[in-house]
Amino acid sequence: MQFIGNHILSVDQFERGDIEQIFSVADKMEHYALRRRVTRVLEGAILGNMFFEPSTRTRVSFGCAFNLLGGEVRETTGFKVSAISKGESLYDTARVLSGYSDVICMRHPVPGSVAEFAAASRVPVINGGDGANEHPSQALLDLYTILKEMRHKGRELDGFRISMIGDLKYGRTVHSLTKLLALYKNITVTLVSPKELQLPEEYVERLRSVGHEVVVSSDLSLGIGHVDIVYSTRIQEERFASKEEADIYRGKFRLNQAIYTKYCEPNTVIMHPLPRDSRSEANELDNDLNQNPNLAIFRQADNGVLVRMALFAMILGVVDQVDTCSRGVNWYHRRDV
Ligand code: NCD
Repeated sequence: MQFIGNHILSVDQFERGDIEQIFSVADKMEHYALRRRVTRVLEGAILGNMFFEPSTRTRVSFGCAFNLLGGEVRETTGFKVSAISKGESLYDTARVLSGYSDVICMRHPVPGSVAEFAAASRVPVINGGDGANEHPSQALLDLYTILKEMRHKGRELDGFRISMIGDLKYGRTVHSLTKLLALYKNITVTLVSPKELQLPEEYVERLRSVGHEVVVSSDLSLGIGHVDIVYSTRIQEERFASKEEADIYRGKFRLNQAIYTKYCEPNTVIMHPLPRDSRSEANELDNDLNQNPNLAIFRQADNGVLVRMALFAMILGVVDQVDTCSRGVNWYHRRDV
């Protein structure tokens, strides 16, 4: 795809070559993300970060990624503090805010709303999650993490085995990731969820149509047994009619060290888009996994900055200038791995 000046709304926009390009730019961002060097390539540029749903990682890492490239960030969080609560339309909001920004990241609870906003925006818009629909930048960072973890074991993406667990019906990270997996070859995807929260048919069909093996199960111990990656997810409480309804499914698929040791192959990588729900009634990934070197959840979150830096540099057309606008850092910088 043509990145310069374009929106990123859905992973449907990407071909395999686009993803390879994003990942190779992301690799080059590492020493800036680790603060070994600083670059001012986006000096003077403004990111409009508009989050109308709760967010920690996505909002802050988009902001950090932009700052690390030398740009400034302006934020709106929640409907209450926005004129949308006074009845302003997405169209007007987009027209106005795109006059204040060079690029916009937006999260909104309604599927399709970010695309609607983008249609009225005068600058590129990145979808930071639109309801239960898609979360393209998360899927990219998930795939980037899978690739790194697999390469660490001398493997590639083609032919790997992944188990996706939890709320596959409403989990937008799962939706976008399954679509990306359909660009690769020979993948085995095991889908573990309560029957009511199964992955919608269109995504299953997409995987099967390219020849991937799809196994549907509601048994965690079988589902995590013969895979390279376990991708756990949270019950998407905010998509249910009531908290009580979400409670029915909470805590059904819990992974802890004992279960991992008993059922997983050695060195199975554990991922989660985060936040993991650590309340006792949910606890899908127990804290006793924190010392397990195969727990990749924080590496995954770190990778988000690299991938988001790459997207900004590509959309704003500065990939080739990142290094020429760089210098060493002035301060003592400690960062433990
Ligand atoms: C996810 C999301 O918002 O879809 N979080 C994230 O962006 N890393 C997953 C979730 O909230 O469960």
